[in-house]
This record gives sequence, structure tokens and C-alpha cells, in this order.
Amino acid sequence: MSERERTFVMVKPDAFARGLAGEIISRFEERGLKLVGMKLEVLDREHAEEHYGEHEDKPFFDDLVDFITSGPVVPMVWEGEDATRQVRQMIGATDPAEAAPGTIRGDYALDLGRNVVHAADHEDEGANEREISLFFDDDELVEYDQHDASWLY
Ligand code: PPS
Repeated sequence: MSERERTFVMVKPDAFARGLAGEIISRFEERGLKLVGMKLEVLDREHAEEHYGEHEDKPFFDDLVDFITSGPVVPMVWEGEDATRQVRQMIGATDPAEAAPGTIRGDYALDLGRNVVHAADHEDEGANEREISLFFDDDELVEYDQHDASWLY
């Protein structure tokens, strides 16, 4: 029985504007992860500053907040064994120039500032709990049986 780890992922405004939200969601579906939460929203500055709070002293902080609040984002929660580490591998390096082909950033992004997707850091133990609770109430995460498909021919 695999362990059901939940991880936070967010399609960024550049990807949404380019019509890539569906492609990015498909990557995780096709990998076999289970979607348990999803929204479409435009973040306000306060929410964005809290989400990226650990980077507030970085020189790029204001640019990062400007960017992430510039249009719709798609926050999501995906579930699966070792989900956090697997998702980080799938999205690739932070700088798309360093991201391997076949990763989401390696296939869809060029600029460091616009790297199409965010995912919780697997090396930061509290990241998922913190980020999921910043975007979702408990009752917005959906419990369902992925394998209940008795209606399939
Ligand atoms: S650091 O310095 O290693 O802690 O930063 P890093 O974890 O690589 O990046 C944190 C998030 O900041 C974004 N980022 C930037 N945005 C705009 N301009 C510049 N120069 C820049 N450098 C990093 C980066 O995409 C990370 O966002 P998320 O959403 O976490 O991937």
C-alpha cells in the first residue's frame, strides 16, 4: 500500500496566459498522481508575500510578488507516494536554462522569472503543510476513490 503524501503545486500566471494550464495538469495526471484540490484565483499582494515570505530579503522579492499577482494562478494539491520529491523532479530546476528537457520547465520555459510552475520544496519539511493551508481550507480537499470506475466498459 503506497503512502499518500500530499504536495502543493501552482500553475503560475505566465503559464496560464499561454494556455499551458491544461498541459501542466496533464503531466501530473499522466504520471499517476491524484488531484485532491484545485482553484483558479488572482492572488492579492498580502497572500503572495506570505507565500514567498522566506524570500523577503532577496533582491528579486518585489519582482516575484509583482509577477505572481499579475494574473490567474491555479493552486493545486496532488497526492501520491513520495509526491513532493517526484513533483520537484518533474518540474525541473528553478532556472529554466538549467532545467532538463522532459521536465515541465525544461519543456515550457526560458526565463528565470517566468518558470511556469511552483511546487513545494521537498527539502523543507514544513513546506507542504504551510503552503496547502495558505491556499486551501480542509474541506476544500476532496476525498474520493480513484478506482471506483464500475461505470467504465
Ligand atoms: S533561492 O535564492 O535559492 O532561495 O531562490 P530559489 O529557491 O531559487 O527561488 C525562489 C523563488 O523565487 C523565484 N526566483 C526569481 N524570480 C524572479 N527573479 C529572479 N531573479 C528569481 N530568482 C528566483 C523562483 O522562481 C522561485 O519561485 P518558486 O515559485 O518557488 O519556484
